[in-house]
Amino acid sequence: MTETTPRTNNARSLLVIGGTSDMGRAVAAAYAEMGWTIALAARDIEAAGRDAADIRTRVEAARVAVHHLDILETDTFGAFLDGLDTLPDTVVCVVGMLGDQERAQDDPHYAARVMRTNFEGPALLLEMLARRFADRGRGLIVGVSSVAGDRGRASNYVYGSGKAGLTAYLSGLRNRLSATDVRVVTVKPGFVRTKMTAGMDLVGPLTATPQAVAARIAALQSRRADVIYVLRAWWPIMSIIRAIPETVFKKLKL
Ligand SMILES: NC(=O)c1ccc[n+]([C@@H]2O[C@H](COP(=O)([O-])OP(=O)(O)OC[C@H]3O[C@@H](n4cnc5c(N)ncnc54)[C@H](OP(=O)(O)O)[C@@H]3O)[C@@H](O)[C@H]2O)c1
Repeated sequence: MTETTPRTNNARSLLVIGGTSDMGRAVAAAYAEMGWTIALAARDIEAAGRDAADIRTRVEAARVAVHHLDILETDTFGAFLDGLDTLPDTVVCVVGMLGDQERAQDDPHYAARVMRTNFEGPALLLEMLARRFADRGRGLIVGVSSVAGDRGRASNYVYGSGKAGLTAYLSGLRNRLSATDVRVVTVKPGFVRTKMTAGMDLVGPLTATPQAVAARIAALQSRRADVIYVLRAWWPIMSIIRAIPETVFKKLKL
């Protein structure tokens, strides 16, 4: 940990995995507004420190700590969790890498990085958190996946396959822990205006803000859910896309 401020004993705590992401920052700010203690985990510790300072500026008396984490360095996960000030009440995992589909087709090492960033790293870390939450008897795990994982498309199937893995993983974890007080929620944001989608021509009515994603994730403290499409229009859209027969789907350019 590089930077912290004192925390009170009764504040509930949030861990954001991918604390420098536009969505992660918005989630952290929303929970800080609710009086929660925040831990930002990021590979760029200086950027995370700036984000923490920004939250402290905007939210009076906010308590924000910063921790180093590279989601590809799976051997460090145990030490990372042991180094947290407290086992969080809620963890939100927003780590992800869209990557370049054409490069991924040509470069297996690059493709592996995209897949590992979206699936292997998050799944292995969330599994370790799930075990600790189960031992404690409660906790909320929120995994940010993607509609891209609902069906593979030519334009982004390397990214989509990683997200499909994460979606299946979260579904299984939720299934395994359903009789406990450890809740597992999958969030599929649809299009969101962030640095990941900068320069893309996004469809306005299907595009959310990071703040809208954060509001849905903050609302999970008082509302139970399993799978969330942030903008509800995505649910019927993806239901139709999933139902298209493969013989037809393979000829479409979606
Ligand atoms: N934007 C969209 O339209 C959209 C739609 C559906 C799902 N999503 C998902 O939503 C999540 C948040 O994305 P975003 O839009 O907010 O984009 P973003 O700002 O690019 O966030 C991605 C985050 O992942 C982090 N990350 C990447 N590789 C890492 C590694 N090896 N170790 C640690 N952190 C790593 C990035 O860290 P750095 O800041 O250091 O790069 C960044 O904080 C992602 O999982 C994304 O796939 C986004």
